[in-house]
Amino acid sequence: MKQQLLSGRRQGWLVGVAAIVSIAVFSLQARQAAPDPQAAVTAAFNKYKGLKEGKNADYIPALAKVNPDLFGIVLYTADGKVYTAGDVTTEVSIQSISKVFTMAQVINEQGPESIEKRIGVDATGMRFNSIIAVEFAQKVLGGPEINPLVNPGAITATSMVTGGTSDAVWAKIIGFHNDFAGRQLKVLQDVYKSESDSNQRNQAIGMLMYAYEFIKSNPQQATDLYTRQCSIGVNAKDLATMAATLAAGGTNPVTGKKVLDQSKVPGVLAVMATAGLYDDSGKWLYHTGLPAKSGVGGGIIAVSPGKFGIAVVSPPLDDAGNSVRAQRSITDISNALGGNPYVSKPR
Ligand code: DON
Repeated sequence: MKQQLLSGRRQGWLVGVAAIVSIAVFSLQARQAAPDPQAAVTAAFNKYKGLKEGKNADYIPALAKVNPDLFGIVLYTADGKVYTAGDVTTEVSIQSISKVFTMAQVINEQGPESIEKRIGVDATGMRFNSIIAVEFAQKVLGGPEINPLVNPGAITATSMVTGGTSDAVWAKIIGFHNDFAGRQLKVLQDVYKSESDSNQRNQAIGMLMYAYEFIKSNPQQATDLYTRQCSIGVNAKDLATMAATLAAGGTNPVTGKKVLDQSKVPGVLAVMATAGLYDDSGKWLYHTGLPAKSGVGGGIIAVSPGKFGIAVVSPPLDDAGNSVRAQRSITDISNALGGNPYVSKPR
């Protein structure tokens, strides 16, 4: 009996030791296998810095003058660690990436249904400045069936930001962008002037959205403020901080400021996932699984919820209007770091 008890104790002791050893081995393996974000960022930079595909946007004349060799990558983890490669301080205009933050501002203030009811949250499958998409939604689909990340929806979202005067609305728009970036941003005046002089199509879109009563008043002001928000100067670091704020439930991981209500983040990311890279959004999501947004200034932001925000600035674009180096770099880096939120393991 005593012998049985002793051998039982000995067995228990042995099982305990075996468990401790296997936990130690497992955690050592896990530590060894942990991907290195800086190595992934550096590898993508080196792989794509010589890539010459794509062309700067030139329908806004100032964008054609930006150095096409500019290339910077920044990854911020959701807890504020930063990894960089290349030129991460030179500013480009934010362009369509601003659409995410103005949409978020309206959702934050007026609730998710405000955007869904007035504009819609469906991909158009058409180019970002398509007028046919508006006509199709109106005449065939019968209502708000576009989204705030294409120009007609974005100009409408800008018109929805409340404020007594144009200056008051602008102060809110730039203030919200500042909070996401964690610093005071400024408009690149040469880009603003260049786009204001050449944005007749957007003026027509603003008027059309007014005619169809998506925009309730003053379409000229909405188009002007939209043009100004597209001309905000940002570098790769700013954009990555903005993306990381979305990755971290709406709180800026660098400044610690709560910018966007946590409950509003999933809706913002959903629209980015379905429409962030325009008519190539499906392809992008298929390869990365990441909500993202591009701008014709050459930036792309992408968000791995709870993990990281990443941004790349590189002006040459493909035919859909998305930066070539940015798409390739973000895909490689995210795949190396396990950023795709759709990836799961069998139990
Ligand atoms: O309204 C425009 O055409 C530009 N301000 C923004 C377009 C844009 O960035 C589309 N992005 N891929």
